[in-house]
Amino acid sequence: MKILVTGGAGYIGSHTTILLMEAGYEVIVFDNFSNASKESIKRVEKIVGKDITLIEGDIRNKEDLQKVFQSHQIKSVIHFAGLKAVGESVEQPLKYYDNNISGTINLCEVMTENNCKSIIFSSSATVYGEPKTTPIDESFPTSATNPYGRSKLFIEEMLRDLYISDSSWKIVLLRYFNPVGAHESGTIGEDPNGIPNNLVPFIAQTAVGKRDYLRVWGDDYNTPDGTGVRDYIHVVDLAKGHVKALEKIDTFNKVMTINLGTGNGYSVLDMVQAFEKASEKKVPYKIMPRRAGDIATCYADPAYAKKILNWEAKRTIKEMCEDTWRWQKQNPNGYKDNE
Ligand code: NAD
Ligand code: UFG
Repeated sequence: MKILVTGGAGYIGSHTTILLMEAGYEVIVFDNFSNASKESIKRVEKIVGKDITLIEGDIRNKEDLQKVFQSHQIKSVIHFAGLKAVGESVEQPLKYYDNNISGTINLCEVMTENNCKSIIFSSSATVYGEPKTTPIDESFPTSATNPYGRSKLFIEEMLRDLYISDSSWKIVLLRYFNPVGAHESGTIGEDPNGIPNNLVPFIAQTAVGKRDYLRVWGDDYNTPDGTGVRDYIHVVDLAKGHVKALEKIDTFNKVMTINLGTGNGYSVLDMVQAFEKASEKKVPYKIMPRRAGDIATCYADPAYAKKILNWEAKRTIKEMCEDTWRWQKQNPNGYKDNE
């Protein structure tokens, strides 16, 4: 049973590949390495003790995709490949629409041509825009405030239309909340390019001494301590959600939209404290003005995932911080020292 994992060398893809292989699936990783290192795959191979079929290619290139489907019998695709930097998407919208949307159109066309009609897509809680209340369930209205978010919304709609046109498709749209953490071995993890935009990688780099201090974007939100509240989810829990979705996908023909979150919200300062405890390092911070486009509070109602996938996130904030710290400490420069 071969599973194609697009973007499988990236942060979430590499963790999911481990769990898929441990569950007995044969995995084909397809990646153009625009935001990943081959070293991550080498380390995944070491963790699972098996070789991985790795194909270097671009989802925007149909020939690259055709080769994969012609040389392998693919049962389902887990589609992680995409660009994800919100700020960059505002500056270079066409790059995002081309990579994320055109890439997904190509992928679905090649899948159709090869009669593979089963896909799990990486969507995001960003599609909820500024939610009126929390927790957020899957029926909440959707909207987008930047090209990255819009690319996720468009792809969701496109996949729904695809199903309407051909009901033999099986489609799962997974809306991730805030993935953090790393594999417990500390050998793979998130390796941001340049200065991290996201909170936990920035905290980790501050704790390890690569950054002087954390800028806390606003402490005047309507939250318990005034800083932004998010639903941080351990990447291994998130990866497990994909394995569960893959088990489920054979049992239905429809489009399923599922939140993957914990249902808990933590503030920026909660995360700073938890990380200081886990790392036994000080994380200095300064309160700054709000960051444009940020919302006060965002956390999931995870009940549907529990009901439909029999999945729930298990790992605590403590484990998220400890595992991030192990990865950061062992790899202060990410994969770059081994490239
Ligand atoms: P990542 O950048 O680590 O992984 C994405 C992978 O896709 C990278 O390995 C990259 O090289 C590859 N890729 C990009 N464009 C490609 C193309 N045209 N052809 C082939 N490969 C390509 O990101 P991640 O955090 O692992 O995210 C995976 C998916 O989940 C993305 O679609 C992202 O938008 C989505 N997502 C991520 C988050 C998050 O906070 N990490 C939150 C919600 C949704
Ligand atoms: N924050 C800081 N300082 C930083 C970075 C972040 O105070 O240096 C704060 C933010 O203001 C926010 C919280 O930490 O309150 C989390 O910020 P992140 O950038 O880590 O995450 P976001 O919730 O803003 O966005 C993330 C992804 C998006 C995705 C969204 C929903 O970056 O791509 O989750 O899934 F769309």
